Parts: sequence; C-alpha cells; structure tokens
Amino acid sequence: MQRGRFVTFEGVDGTGKTTQSRLLGQNLEAEGIKVLILREPGGTAISEKIRDILLDASQNNMTAETEVLLFEAARAQIVREVIRPALDRGTWVICDRFMDSTVAYQGYGRGLGLELIDQLNDFAVGGTKPDLTVLLQLPPESRAERLERRHELEAADRLDGESEDFRSEVDRGFRALAAREPERFSCIETQGTKEETAGLVLELVRRVLL
Ligand code: TYD
Repeated sequence: MQRGRFVTFEGVDGTGKTTQSRLLGQNLEAEGIKVLILREPGGTAISEKIRDILLDASQNNMTAETEVLLFEAARAQIVREVIRPALDRGTWVICDRFMDSTVAYQGYGRGLGLELIDQLNDFAVGGTKPDLTVLLQLPPESRAERLERRHELEAADRLDGESEDFRSEVDRGFRALAAREPERFSCIETQGTKEETAGLVLELVRRVLL
C-alpha cells in the first residue's frame, strides 16, 4: 500500500491555518483520499492534557525550558500514537502546526536558538517529517484585525498575551525556515476569501504531492 502524505500548515496566529486545514481535508476527501486532520499541541489524550497546561493563561511562571519540553512531549506522543500509524495505512495527515512552530515560537520567539530546537524536534519526530509545509502569510494589520475579532469571541490563552516584539520574532523565524528548506515549504498569502486561499492550497498540493 502507498504511504499517506503528510501536510502541515504553519504561520503566526490569525492567518487561518485551522480553516485551511479543514478545507484542504474536505477537498481531498472529495477526490476519494482518506484524510486525518489534527492540530498541535493535541490529538491524543496525553497531548490534549499537555495542551491544557501549555495554554492555561494562569500558568504565567512557566519557564521557556519547560514550555519547549512540553511541546515536544505532546509531539512525541501524537507522532507515534496517531500520525505514523495513519501514514502507514495510507491515510493522509493534515496537521494544524507541527515542528516548525517550535522553531519559530521557542527558537526565535523565546530565543532558545535553532540548534537546540532542531535536536529536540529530531528526537520528538524520529524521522516523521512533513512532505509539504504550507506557510500562510498575512500583512500585520490584517492579522491584528482578525485576532481582535477572535478575542472578542473567546478568552485569550497563555501565548496570546505575548508582545508584538515576540510576534515579529516568530514571523521572522517562519520566514527563515521557508528560506532554509525551500523544497518543503510553500508560502501562500491569505488576503483573499477562505475559498480563494483553499483553491491556491489545493492547486499547490496537486502540483507537489498528487
Ligand atoms: P492555538 O489556539 O492552537 O493557536 P492557533 O489557532 O494560532 O494555532 O494555540 C497554539 C499556540 O501554541 C499558538 O500560540 C502557537 C503555540 N505553539 C508554540 O509556541 N510552539 C509549538 O511548537 C506549537 C505547536 C504551538
């Protein structure tokens, strides 16, 4: 049986990764492909518990070292319990954030550095890397507007409280990653409607993976 393909969506908060993960899943299923849609951190009972700790806004004394190890622990579990078995049985996996978020948020945002995060990521994923990573990009003004609207509807989590400087470091991290691995990364601007962006994503996936 042919191994499934592994697609991840990355980008700073407010770029529409969750919506685009769902729409790509629907579009691929319409073509008869079996798809599993996941999000990180999360996706297993253990990883969801770790997610609760990570996003709990009351845990405001969490150190950067603890934070990165928790993200990697959640990842080690979802890779072995869910992602690898799915790919092995031919199912495609779409993940809303994965290892590149740790490079951008903890490596750049928290300043822990690339070398350490690369090592931790390698240990956590053990060779299970995405075949394609879609980096969604939006100008800062539109992003701020989307986030403001979102925060009127839901409570802010621990990472939502970070400064604009942190966010611009994260953004810089994602751009550096895309430049470092151009064969795996594709950048897509999400200024159009959800459907327009989903069309661009599907076209990209067809070109690269089908
Ligand atoms: P989530 O509500 O899923 O955010 P979003 O909708 O923006 O994806 O929360 C995940 C948060 O965790 C988000 O702020 C990014 C952060 N994060 C890291 O800092 N490192 C990581 O490795 C991952 C996977 C996420």
